[in-house]
Amino acid sequence: ATLQDVSEAAPHSQPAGPAPSKEVTILFGSQTGNGQGLAEDLSQKLKAQNYNVTLSSMDDFKTNTLKKVENLFVIVSTHGEGDPPDNALSFHEFLNGRRAPKLENLKFSVLSLGDTSYEFFCQTGKDFDKRLEELGGERLYERVDCDVDFDESAEEWFEGIISSLNEAQEASSAGTFSTSEAQVAAAGAPTAEKPAYSRTNPFKAELLENINLSGRGSNKETRHLELSLEDSNLQFEPGDSVGIYPENDPELVNKLIDEMSWDPDEQIVINKKGEQRSLRDALLSTYEITVLTKPLLEKAAPLSGNSELHELIKEGHEEQLKDYIYGRDIVDLGRDFSPWNVPASEFVSILRKIPPRLYSIASSPTANPEEVHLTVGTVRYDAHGRERMGVCSGQCAERTEPGDTLPVYIQRNPNFKLPEDHETPIIMVGPGTGAAPFRSFIEEREEIGAEGKSWLFFGEQHFTTDFLYQVEWQRWLKEGVLTKMDVAFSRDTEEKMYVQHRMLEKSQEFYNWLLEGAVVYVCGDEQYMASDVHEAMKTILQQEGGMNEQEADSYLEDMQQQKRYQRDVY
Ligand code: 2AM
Repeated sequence: ATLQDVSEAAPHSQPAGPAPSKEVTILFGSQTGNGQGLAEDLSQKLKAQNYNVTLSSMDDFKTNTLKKVENLFVIVSTHGEGDPPDNALSFHEFLNGRRAPKLENLKFSVLSLGDTSYEFFCQTGKDFDKRLEELGGERLYERVDCDVDFDESAEEWFEGIISSLNEAQEASSAGTFSTSEAQVAAAGAPTAEKPAYSRTNPFKAELLENINLSGRGSNKETRHLELSLEDSNLQFEPGDSVGIYPENDPELVNKLIDEMSWDPDEQIVINKKGEQRSLRDALLSTYEITVLTKPLLEKAAPLSGNSELHELIKEGHEEQLKDYIYGRDIVDLGRDFSPWNVPASEFVSILRKIPPRLYSIASSPTANPEEVHLTVGTVRYDAHGRERMGVCSGQCAERTEPGDTLPVYIQRNPNFKLPEDHETPIIMVGPGTGAAPFRSFIEEREEIGAEGKSWLFFGEQHFTTDFLYQVEWQRWLKEGVLTKMDVAFSRDTEEKMYVQHRMLEKSQEFYNWLLEGAVVYVCGDEQYMASDVHEAMKTILQQEGGMNEQEADSYLEDMQQQKRYQRDVY
């Protein structure tokens, strides 16, 4: 992310009053890269209309330049219990702190990314929106809150803010460019070459391998997939992810069609462009049918003639609603709240689009050109009398064989990158499928002959059945590509043993590595593991570095700021 100095832009001469500014700043806070991708798209669009764009991640933004910003667009996602992504933490804190400046000359708008399955939906975006107004900013365009299928809503926001900006330009009679001038300029402007395949135009990647890494008798099924990127021109680096557009289970689709007595061949309009699909195809590959959310039930209620659904969404019934939603899908909804008084097309229009699933890449592009490897944990559970599966992991486990293709794209993740200096030591904490990017890191470091030390903490349930990529780690250890490895098999001993316990056992050495400038990477479960590992690091700093709790906190914050503590958590 680059930061231009906003004060360097040439002033535009203006006869009557100050001209609306052509200067636009876009700030993004993004954990998985969706926010960054959208910010880059917006930047392209604005540049094409001859705006001067400053594009920056929130943590690279120099906060002392904020006062000079005239048009600010914020794109930010929300995580866990309404938390900002890692690279938005410090800016979020700055704006809410006492040192935040008055922003009377600011025009702004916020695009927030979130998931309506979570209670604190889009909270971080709402925070920024409210705070920027409190500080004196004027809302140029209403905030848009996006659900997981964010493409269309984001597009509407883009159009909204761009036309608001243009209106402001035109309203000032002596605008710096007439529309036609802007268009001419745009046509001649050099635009960055965009890869042909992207999130909105995925590449059909052929599956080369599909291996179950888990041994017989394991509680888990973790698969190693190898996909061909040949002829795609898709590029990636260790730390990036692959997005897969999955298809729903055809059996589940059939069940839904039967339950609702629909005609599978009925033509359905699937987007604002008016594209059509048969109902069956739309349910297979366009609409999400495996998750219920509160907003969905609220939209469904007016379509149902069943008073129980109307009861369930009433105020005061939040707990019952939560209980009902948990582990149920659209087939349950259809069955439990019949009769439905609407045609299929209307029912389907309330569903979310299937979002792509992101998997951290497990291979190095240098070691395996034109290929990408993934580590996919199969999600499988019984609920309400039926076996249920993760949409994408289920498809990979049950319905995808070598030779089949999957629609994929590369999701860049600048927040999870090997150090540029190949001699910098790295510490990698990756239990379960969290080990995936570290296979990519070590493969890459082997390939380029990087000399920095490396230390892996891996954890799983059982040594005999769940030691993912055991043979590879052990070879890398033997050859010195991997310097140290500590493993925690949680269910082989009476007491649970987790990666953070191993870190604490080696606290002195861990601390020494930190003093030597090691970068710490954590990948895997966000809800429990990542916060327990964070606590363990705090303990190590207090125990070995003689810090008090506050000092340990700010040490870790500094590490995060300096990109010496990076997380890819989900
Ligand atoms: P468990 O399933 O026995 O609880 C990969 O999933 C590994 O992470 C498993 O060994 C799992 O242990 C472990 N794990 C579960 N919760 C964890 C936590 N809070 N911190 C670290 N590891 C955890």
